[in-house]
Amino acid sequence: MSFLELVDVHTHFPIRKGIFGGITGLVRAVDGVSLRIEKGEILGLVGESGCGKSTLSRTIMQLQPATSGEISLEEQNLSTLEPSAIQRRRLDFQMVFQDPYASLNPRMTVYSALAEALCQRHQALRSSRSKLVSKVGEVMERVGLDARFMRKYPHEFSGGQRQRIAIARALAPEPKLVLADEPVSALDVSIQSQILNLLLQLRDELDLTMIFISHDLSVVRYLADNIAVMNAGKIVEYGPAEVVFDSPQNAYTRKLLAAIPRIQLSA
Ligand SMILES: Nc1ncnc2c1ncn2[C@@H]1O[C@H](COP(=O)(O)OP(=O)(O)O)[C@@H](O)[C@H]1O
Ligand SMILES: [Mg+2]
Repeated sequence: MSFLELVDVHTHFPIRKGIFGGITGLVRAVDGVSLRIEKGEILGLVGESGCGKSTLSRTIMQLQPATSGEISLEEQNLSTLEPSAIQRRRLDFQMVFQDPYASLNPRMTVYSALAEALCQRHQALRSSRSKLVSKVGEVMERVGLDARFMRKYPHEFSGGQRQRIAIARALAPEPKLVLADEPVSALDVSIQSQILNLLLQLRDELDLTMIFISHDLSVVRYLADNIAVMNAGKIVEYGPAEVVFDSPQNAYTRKLLAAIPRIQLSA
């Protein structure tokens, strides 16, 4: 069995007429997705806006209940877990968003944000301030931030640095799976490649498993091992990144490729 397995996962939203009206239809945001991800793999999930990428990632995170289907992490079927077990499991999934402010509280210093995230997994750290300070410093340095800045607030950093803080925040609880939902889409191209290189480096250092979501196939090509192309809630193409990118089989993938302005990403 794979590290993460999705079997025929559906997530539908009812369409209601007015607030009290009956259900007049369904949005099939995720419409029968089956996927396997191995430990240490980066899966690139790509598709146009509205195709269901974020809903699929929220469904995997157990933030959005699946309408049907099975999601298993390390052979444990998540759909059968009790709410308390889901709560504990949630530490194993962490997200990085397009806008770092979505995961960072602007009123918390980097130290407070990272200390809180570290203590979620290691409660004992709460009682040792000096250990916590040195742990926060380690986490900052791992993502290429100077530990001397731990008393600063998110707005005192540049966009790229802020995304590094959000990545550190996501990694602090030692997740098993990181879901990065358009993590570089709001950044300048020169900063994008720095963040992508950081994610690749972290994957190698920490044997991280990651789902990297983007509407941009060229960004996904840069770091994904395998690519899943999503269209209208379904995976329409899947395969090794270079195969999907260089010889796409599906007409929709070819359309995506043709529509994307080429960005030069340097290693
Ligand atoms: N909470 C929700 N309630 C109703 N419809 C939703 C909800 N979340 C997403 N959708 C719909 O599901 C579809 C997929 O959205 P989303 O997963 O955000 O796509 P993407 O991340 O690929 O842009 C869209 O049609 C969107 O309007
Ligand atoms: Mg989205």
